[in-house]
Amino acid sequence: MAAATGYLTDVSYIPGFYPNMAPVALRYVAALNRVTPPRATGYRYLELGCGLGRSLTTLAAANPQAEFVGVDFNPDHTAAAERDIAAGGLANARVITSDFGHLPADLGTFDFVALHGVFSWVSQQVRDEILAVARGQLAAGGLLLVSYNAMPGWAHLQPIRGILRQYAALRSGDSLQRIRDALAYLVFIRDRHAKYFEDNPRAAAYVDALLKQDVRYLAHEYLNEDWTSFYFADVAGMFGSAGLTFIGSLPVFTNFWDLCVRPEFQELFRTTTNRLVTEAHKDFCANTAFRWDVYARSPRPMPDVADRLRETDDIHFRVARPGTTLPYQANLGVVTSTVQGPLYQALLDVVGGRSLRMSEILADSRLAGTPPADLVRAVDAGVAMGLFDIATSAVREVTADQLQGVSVPHAFNRAVISAESLGGRSLALASPLTGTGHTVGDLDAAILHELIERGVDGLAGRVAGRLTASGRALQRDGKAVTDPAERLTLVETACTAFRSQSLPWLERLGIVDRT
Ligand SMILES: C[S@@+](CC[C@H](N)C(=O)[O-])C[C@H]1O[C@@H](n2cnc3c(N)ncnc32)[C@H](O)[C@@H]1O
Repeated sequence: MAAATGYLTDVSYIPGFYPNMAPVALRYVAALNRVTPPRATGYRYLELGCGLGRSLTTLAAANPQAEFVGVDFNPDHTAAAERDIAAGGLANARVITSDFGHLPADLGTFDFVALHGVFSWVSQQVRDEILAVARGQLAAGGLLLVSYNAMPGWAHLQPIRGILRQYAALRSGDSLQRIRDALAYLVFIRDRHAKYFEDNPRAAAYVDALLKQDVRYLAHEYLNEDWTSFYFADVAGMFGSAGLTFIGSLPVFTNFWDLCVRPEFQELFRTTTNRLVTEAHKDFCANTAFRWDVYARSPRPMPDVADRLRETDDIHFRVARPGTTLPYQANLGVVTSTVQGPLYQALLDVVGGRSLRMSEILADSRLAGTPPADLVRAVDAGVAMGLFDIATSAVREVTADQLQGVSVPHAFNRAVISAESLGGRSLALASPLTGTGHTVGDLDAAILHELIERGVDGLAGRVAGRLTASGRALQRDGKAVTDPAERLTLVETACTAFRSQSLPWLERLGIVDRT
């Protein structure tokens, strides 16, 4: 069954958390592109097409100082989000069951509007409704995040969507049954060397990637009536007509063209200052298939370091992986970049095991010889290359001793752990210190659940028992492990690794407390 808009409603989507949606990430993209972001507290955040609401609720749990509103027209989706809001005691979050064209008149304006997994999958009429929300609901100085399937990365794969949808339309049953049938047909023609697959070997390999995906995701990706891959310029034109200006993109490295395109293409970027032109060329040099773009209404420039410190010095920086040494290699898709040299060594030494604001980094005497603007640029490039992480506040400095008793203070995280450990999918826990969510595996979540419920005695045996009862497979080197003794050994190893590595990390993030 499809709703009048052409977007399917007979199958619920899957829960997912996307760190690019975090207000701190959006504020940071604005800052590094010299645009003043909305303030760090008391802001309003609107998510269009929030699905099951897992990004919204995780961000609400991580940012109690702000208000989060989600919109989705599928009542099953908003009901799931409402259950998470109630279980997590999230007084700062709510969802509205509505299409984008009929939002409540008293909704007000928002400092952030975000939509992920929506823009490419709806009709032009629905896109016009989204643009109307962007025009009417985004406050001056506000930021909008839109993700979409991009060209040219999708060019050679578009026919896959065509064949899946056309074959599914011939089948009966709900969308899940029809996508399963369509996938089986796709494999059938791929394995018999249909000429399309012979001429497009990457499409043949792509079929294997599809088979690993959750069928609910595949139904939502491929079975809607509308499905459009956009050139960057098309989307910039649409949001431009709604009065918005493109200011940057996520992940952070995509704001650094030299981290996106190989050296032989870089001359063009050196000689062109028009960002709209360089973005378009970047997508061809990198064969971009998916974009996360950030737009601003009436962006206020922040030309100097002093402006940046005044507006965004609440953002904290820390070394992403404690113990990192140089040279450090960053693999960023098309480009592999090596972080090395005295400036980065000095920055690593200064930040060390702490969380520092940009002003604190700039004030350190060990960096005195370098102009502030160059230091800011180096820190930003360090974030882009994964050397540093950003956060809304300082994370904890923790001691190395192994934790015995632990608790999970936030009701939202306890509810997620209890509902989804051993669910076969990783899950995100909210950190009130970083202002975002952090992913843990579903087995790790089960270990944490057992630890907080019944402590460390007999931990591995209890987790192994739960694993067997849940029916979740356990693998070693890609092969299922069925022998009970071998399974217990694997779980024991997982428990030891979790307690020595993951627990201190979760304590640093304020997700776990010691009792
Ligand atoms: C692919 S899902 C993405 C969900 C979520 N943003 C995520 O990333 O997990 C797209 C969502 O948009 C919602 N949607 C599609 N068209 C809509 C419309 N016209 N009005 C409101 N919601 C809509 C769907 O119900 C679905 O939950």
